[in-house]
Amino acid sequence: MSRVALVTGGMGGLGEAVCIKLAALGYKVVTTYSPGNAKVQDWLKGMNNMGYGFRAYPCDVTDFDSAHDCVATVCKEVGAVDVLVNNAGITRDMTFKKMSKNDWDAVIHTNLDSVFNMTKQVMDGMIERKWGRVINVSSVNGQKGAFGQTNYSAAKAGMHGFTKALALEVAKQGVTVNTISPGYIGTKMVTAIPQEILDSKILPQIPVNRLGKPEEIAGLVAYLASDEAAFVTGANISINGGQHMF
Ligand code: CAA
Repeated sequence: MSRVALVTGGMGGLGEAVCIKLAALGYKVVTTYSPGNAKVQDWLKGMNNMGYGFRAYPCDVTDFDSAHDCVATVCKEVGAVDVLVNNAGITRDMTFKKMSKNDWDAVIHTNLDSVFNMTKQVMDGMIERKWGRVINVSSVNGQKGAFGQTNYSAAKAGMHGFTKALALEVAKQGVTVNTISPGYIGTKMVTAIPQEILDSKILPQIPVNRLGKPEEIAGLVAYLASDEAAFVTGANISINGGQHMF
């Protein structure tokens, strides 16, 4: 029977590429979208016309009760979640001097609190079934810091602390928990960076000399979701074109 994969924030960017890859591998793929997102029906129609069979459910990942209700509905209508990809994320880039409490909170709630909110809903079931995969999509900027991203870098670094602690707790139960840390990938989040900054400050730092492709990230997620990856847990896998090595 096909496994169920739940990808937060799967409409666009990395999440969409992950949904497409997992669907191609035979997973039943479910994504979440922000309640009130008017584009969801068109997106679903477009994707499903291509034969992917995605389902999408509203979920405010910053809100524990919303996460609970979303996952309960997925379990009822699609099946228990075998693979959780915590991908939903936002940026509010600005120097610390200009950053308000609201800019800090929004990024921490969406990028880090969401990981607790979503993982909490699926972990007991994974343990019971003695199989599960949690894949947290962090960032090179959680590993090395980034100018203008105190909020985002803190959230993304926090994600990996969560990964390591939970990986220890559930390792004996057939559940793996891993972080991936993509570098600069050609998605809207990155192309929104002012071109001048991208050209002068960011691209010169990438030895491979280009932005990454969403499909390259999706391939790594698919590996971590697979049976072959059972011995990989608590890892933080860099995928950044050589931008940051350690
Ligand atoms: N490194 C060093 N200096 C930098 C810099 C950088 N990356 N970015 C900007 N600066 C410098 C500028 O050159 C400028 O210097 P001078 O005053 O000497 O001219 C100074 O900082 C102020 O720059 P700005 O006037 O641009 O300041 P701002 O407040 O208007 O904008 C900013 C600052 C929002 C951080 C803008 O520079 C920016 O958007 N930077 C890109 C941030 C970034 O990399 N975000 C990643 C988004 S993608 C992502 O997050 C996905 C992922 O996981 C990788």
